[in-house]
Amino acid sequence: MSKSRTKYVCSNCGYESLKWIGKCPSCDNWNSFVEELVEIKKTSLQVNAASGNVVKLDSLVHENETRIKTNIEEFDRVLGGGLMPGSVVLIGGDPGIGKSTLVMQAAAKLQKKVLYVTGEESVNQINLRAKRLKVSSPDVLAMTETDLDTIISAIEKEEPEVVIVDSIQTTYKSDLENTPGTITQIRECTSELMRVAKKRHCAIIIIGHITKEGMIAGPKLLEHIVDTVLQFEGERSYSYRILRAQKNRFGSTNEIGIFEMHEDGLHEVKNPSEIFLSEREKEITGSVVTASIEGSRPILLEVQALVTPSAFGNPQRVATGFDYRRLSILLAVLEKRAGLKLSTQNVFLNIAGGIRIDEPAVDLAVCCAIASSFTDKFSKNDTVVIGEVGLGGEVRSVGNVEKRIQEAAKLGFKKILIPANNSKSLKQKNSIELVPVENILTTIQKVLR
Ligand SMILES: Nc1ncnc2c1ncn2[C@@H]1O[C@H](COP(=O)(O)OP(=O)(O)OP(=O)(O)O)[C@@H](O)[C@H]1O
Ligand SMILES: [Mg+2]
Repeated sequence: MSKSRTKYVCSNCGYESLKWIGKCPSCDNWNSFVEELVEIKKTSLQVNAASGNVVKLDSLVHENETRIKTNIEEFDRVLGGGLMPGSVVLIGGDPGIGKSTLVMQAAAKLQKKVLYVTGEESVNQINLRAKRLKVSSPDVLAMTETDLDTIISAIEKEEPEVVIVDSIQTTYKSDLENTPGTITQIRECTSELMRVAKKRHCAIIIIGHITKEGMIAGPKLLEHIVDTVLQFEGERSYSYRILRAQKNRFGSTNEIGIFEMHEDGLHEVKNPSEIFLSEREKEITGSVVTASIEGSRPILLEVQALVTPSAFGNPQRVATGFDYRRLSILLAVLEKRAGLKLSTQNVFLNIAGGIRIDEPAVDLAVCCAIASSFTDKFSKNDTVVIGEVGLGGEVRSVGNVEKRIQEAAKLGFKKILIPANNSKSLKQKNSIELVPVENILTTIQKVLR
């Protein structure tokens, strides 16, 4: 028999407490605790439909799990080669970023029976969007529904191979007393969908909102329940959108998919380097091109810096698309090891195209861009710079150097500055001149003209 009690749950991170607390001990948010009713059911955490049965592990290998290709190359890459039957994929993202657009385009291209369930739009609105995106497929069934039991009945009746639920925040289980969108509802609905996916061997894509007004629970809570968590991100003012895997039980989490939003939907970006460099102003100080690795792909990016004298006591340091603390460290290294007096200067750093990079291989390009703007000297525009910078001002080796060199050569650059340690291990001949560098001071001298 099930009984119920109340508990308090942090609406930000999902921390649970028996008493109301003002400040969440887990995420330090104030006033985020909400009262929730919990029904205690012994079975509520059984996710695997086949639980209880003992099977030989190698007998399962013969099932030949073939992935369902979405036929959108960028999407498939992030998924690890396609959707895995029996798995649940959660796609999270800011409001209006293009989640529904992405899944609709995928649904039409899947060439499998798809059930598209939406609790956010009417079937008419879906139809209008499909017309705008110029997608149509006789295999896609659409349904406006928020009651999970009805959705599950439809899945059982129609037996689709892929189910899309847009969004988990609007879906509810009628036997729970909580309103839709509350943490308990979201968690229970997701667990239930997970059970359905395993039992019916279909792939389920769930859409989750992150910061929509009036929404209490974010998809953070669901990350441990589902198999794959994808994040769809991008800057509002740019048309580029990046699909990133945060968790993937069936693939790498390093891969990214790059799209561009147009009126007729998302277009795949197959040659990101060309696009990110397309608006580069060649005769400008403070601009240096670097080669970053995103997943398994090299991407050439423009690092831009603007250094101006500060009129007030505390100079400003602003980094867009780059770690702020890393910028502070590099500024200190430039001051101490290259003799650039930056402590009285405002420094603004930007990675062009609205992309965010976290890998240390771009350090050297950041240093060169700052030095170029500070000294008002142009950097050589046929040169690409890669390398990690250590606290001693030394240039350290980076991974995947061959891929970076090839990408730079492919885009017509004449020279690439690489860490001296990397150049020792290089075997293949390239059409691009390789310039080994050992420390930031000599690099800056070689890059600036
Ligand atoms: N007519 C149009 N022309 C160009 N772009 C459009 C047009 N209509 C919509 N868009 C783009 O599509 C985006 C909305 O896409 P979509 O509805 O898929 O987002 P979403 O992430 O599902 O949003 P929500 O969080 O509201 O569900 C808009 O932000 C806009 O960039
Ligand atoms: Mg939507």
